[in-house]
Amino acid sequence: MNAAIRAVARSALDLNMSVYGVRQGFQGLIEDQFRPLNARDVGGIIHLGGTFLGSARSKEFREERGRSKALRNLASHGIEGLVVIGGNGSQTGSYMLSKLGFPVVGVASTIDNDLYGTNITIGSDTAVNVTLEAIDHLRTTGSSHNRAFLVETMGRDCGYLAMMAGLAGGAEVISTPEAEVSASEIAERLRAAYERGKTHAIVVIAEGVKDNSARILDYFEKDKRMVGFELRATVLGHVVRGAPPTAFDRFLATRLGVGATVSLARGQFGVLVGYEAGDVIRTPLEDIAGRTKPIGTELVELARVLAK
Ligand code: F6P
Repeated sequence: MNAAIRAVARSALDLNMSVYGVRQGFQGLIEDQFRPLNARDVGGIIHLGGTFLGSARSKEFREERGRSKALRNLASHGIEGLVVIGGNGSQTGSYMLSKLGFPVVGVASTIDNDLYGTNITIGSDTAVNVTLEAIDHLRTTGSSHNRAFLVETMGRDCGYLAMMAGLAGGAEVISTPEAEVSASEIAERLRAAYERGKTHAIVVIAEGVKDNSARILDYFEKDKRMVGFELRATVLGHVVRGAPPTAFDRFLATRLGVGATVSLARGQFGVLVGYEAGDVIRTPLEDIAGRTKPIGTELVELARVLAK
């Protein structure tokens, strides 16, 4: 998000716009936490995860009173357009402000990569790489100790992080909300891997599945021999967020941030700025608000074939 803030600010300053940063997201709009931003204010942040402006999940903004207060504050600073960098919740908020007539442009940013209107969201590549690094480390212990590891990663109700990291990490099983693998099926696949002579096995689990790593461990507790391998679980949780962004994420954030400024300058409001096939694209907020995009079935099939 820092790289996106930098790109929005510097490209807007280049067009002689005045730029303000809003602290703590929508909550900051309500609490009047605005600060002018110049080119130096956004220096030295491109390599940092998170957002130097801060972020918050705002209950008040979900109510009409909160949104009206936000609009009053925007008007009192003479602000003529707003860029909202965020995922589903944030872009639903963008849509609400936009419906009230305020010029808003969304920038697709969430580690979950579950937004319509973009092929990829800011942060997801970094989160995939953090998950992958964990998988690689665990595989080393797995091989040395002849163990299987369950690795649970984030992603809310979308299996993108688990699927991508699992494929890139050569996982034996990948379980996602879109294609959940039951505990008994995991046991069968691990047993088969053991009997094929594998020295380790990795099971990647998305946080949104019903049979999460705790449940699977419970299930295996009944009969430890059923998988062959000794089994351990690691829940990555918030560790997958906040890492220094990958080159791709910095590039994506830069393109989308500049794309948002271009939209504001053109008077193209009420859209989400996303990325598809190497191009910046724009989709009406009403088409993406309140919807989440699952991973494609082709990836599910790929994971099954490659686990052999
Ligand atoms: O949407 C991003 C995300 O990190 C999800 O992957 C995860 O389910 C959720 O946010 C965690 O939210 P919180 O930080 O509020 O616990």
